[in-house]
Amino acid sequence: MSVHAATAVACPNIAFIKYWGNRDHPTRLPENGSISMNLSELTTRTRVTFDPSLPNDIFDLNGIRQTTASLQRVTSHLNLIRGLRGVSTRAHVHSENNFPAGAGIASSASAFAALTLAAVNALGLEMSEKDLSRLARRGSGSACRSIPSGFVEWYRGISDIDSFAVSIAKPSHWDLVDCIAVVESGHKKTGSTEGHKLASTSPLQNARVQDTDRRLDRCRDAIIARDFETFAEIIEQDSNLMHAVMMTSRPALLYWEPATIEIIKAVQTWRKAGIPAAYTVDAGPNVHIISEAKSLDAIKHRLSSLPGVKEILIAHPGGPAKIV
Ligand code: DP6
Repeated sequence: MSVHAATAVACPNIAFIKYWGNRDHPTRLPENGSISMNLSELTTRTRVTFDPSLPNDIFDLNGIRQTTASLQRVTSHLNLIRGLRGVSTRAHVHSENNFPAGAGIASSASAFAALTLAAVNALGLEMSEKDLSRLARRGSGSACRSIPSGFVEWYRGISDIDSFAVSIAKPSHWDLVDCIAVVESGHKKTGSTEGHKLASTSPLQNARVQDTDRRLDRCRDAIIARDFETFAEIIEQDSNLMHAVMMTSRPALLYWEPATIEIIKAVQTWRKAGIPAAYTVDAGPNVHIISEAKSLDAIKHRLSSLPGVKEILIAHPGGPAKIV
């Protein structure tokens, strides 16, 4: 085989109905379905070059050569893709995020969506969006939602075959905006991969999972109808349910910092005052404030006066992962 290369770009996504816990960890079959929105302004750009002269895979992330767990995770994912093509050629992977490494924005979704698409293309494999999404899921669960465009739903599925993500609305469908209030930029103490393994140790996880179809229906319907009130109520409840599971796992995971709660309380006050704003929090202390674009200035203004907010990032609904 000669040298083969391709470059792909993908956005991270923010989950409105969260993925937390797997039925099968190696294949990342989730306990529950989830819904998210791609974040347009934030991107990962990844070039994969399969080169027969390489003895091992090489992974450069933001210009820094990776040697340990992150290289291992990339190699495992490439092995899966090499297996589909029946080759063993090693690759050089160059990946750049346009968002600050320390901003606490989870990059595994955009990383594995871009890596999957670039590697599949470089090897000349023909794949549907559905199969790309299934494959990206194996690298990082949330990455399957960064393959399709705009507002996306990841089906729980029965098995590997039917656990993938689809677009439920285009980016232009609803002028939502994600105002990310960065309160801490350090690395998170317990990453999502370890966190998913603890979910089943919480006595609340079962109840959360059992109630998921109701939340998915409500969230999907609210997005389709652009019904902000219903949307706000359900995404806040979903975020609180996930954090309740985290806080009651053994060992317990408490991702919130005092500033997280300060922002949550402020958002509640703003909404009561008529500003469409809702919060959601991932596996870290930063708060994503979702609002309609017309209220962005009012929210930015209010957020910047809160002492715990170190930085504000803005993102609108984003498109699918793409070859460039
Ligand atoms: C809290 O997809 O990052 O952001 O599959 O181990 O890579 P891995 O986990 P990951 O988990 C995301 C957890 C979450 C919620 C969500 O995005 O749905």
